[in-house]
Amino acid sequence: MNDHPKVCVVGSINMDMVTAVDKMPGQGETVLGGTFRTNPGGKGANQAVAAARLGAEVSLVGAIGDDPFGKMLLKHFDLENIKREGIQIFSETSTGIATIIISENDNRIIVSSGANSKLTPEIVEASKEVIIKSDIILLQFEIPMETISYIVNLGYEHHIPVIVNPAPYKYIPENILTKATFFTPNEGEAFSMRSMPLYESITNKLITTKGKHGAEFITPTCEVKSVHAYAVSVKDTTGAGDTFNGAFAVEIARGKSLSEAINFANAAAALSVGKVGAQAGMPKRDEVNEFLVKVQK
Ligand code: RIB
Repeated sequence: MNDHPKVCVVGSINMDMVTAVDKMPGQGETVLGGTFRTNPGGKGANQAVAAARLGAEVSLVGAIGDDPFGKMLLKHFDLENIKREGIQIFSETSTGIATIIISENDNRIIVSSGANSKLTPEIVEASKEVIIKSDIILLQFEIPMETISYIVNLGYEHHIPVIVNPAPYKYIPENILTKATFFTPNEGEAFSMRSMPLYESITNKLITTKGKHGAEFITPTCEVKSVHAYAVSVKDTTGAGDTFNGAFAVEIARGKSLSEAINFANAAAALSVGKVGAQAGMPKRDEVNEFLVKVQK
C-alpha cells in the first residue's frame, strides 16, 4: 500500500467571505449577521488541503490574481505542505472570491471566479509533468470545462485514475463521461446528471454523496450500496463535500476498496463540519482513525 500517494488537484482557489445569520434573508430583505470572516476556500484548494492533511503528497494546479488574497493563499498552501508550482499568477485579474452565508445548518455560496476562469488548457499544459506523475487526479467544475476535458484525456492516456466532482453542476461532455474513473455528485448534481444521454452507461462510476445520509454507489452486480454517515453536531457544512472528495481520492490511491474509501471519507467529512470555515475542521489521518475507533465502540 502507498501511504503517501501523489494526488494532483486541478481546480479553483478562492478566498471565502463568510457571514453567519440566524435566518437567511428573503428577496429584498436586510438582516443583521454575526461575525464576518475571510477563510481560504475554493473547491480545488479545499480538496487539496483535505488530501494533504490525510498524508498525501499534493500538487495543486490553479490560478490566482496578483493581489493580497492571492499572496495570503500562497503562504497558506506552504503551511499546508501543498506543492504550488502549478499555480499561475495573473496580474490583471483578481483572486476568486466566494460570498458565503451560513444559516440553519447549511450554506449558500456565490462564486466570483476571477483568475479561476483563466485556467485554460494552455496554462495547465505547463504543469503536464506534475499531472502525469501523480497517482490520482481530482477535478471539480469551478474552472473552464475545456480544461477539465483536457485533464481527463491526459489522465486516461497515462492510465491515471481521475475523480470528477461535478460541482457546481454543468453539462458534462461525452469524453469526460467515458474517460473519467469516478464522479462524486451530491444528490442534486446526481439528479441533473440523469438527463445526460450516456447516463445509463456510467452509473457504475457514480459515488453519490447524501449529506447526513452518507453516500451510495452501484456495485458491479448492479446493487445499490449505501455507506452510512456519522452523526455529529454541525457548526458549518461548507467544505464537507470537498473533505469527502479529498479523503476519497487519497484512500482510492492507497488501494482501498470503494466501501472502505467511502467510509473513511464519510468520517473525515463528519469531522470537518465541527468548525466554521471550509478548511478549518478538515482532519488529519490520526484524528479520523481515532474517531472511527471511538464510534465503533
Ligand atoms: O465547496 C465549498 C467551496 O465552494 C467554498 O470554499 C467556496 O470557495 C466555493 O468554491
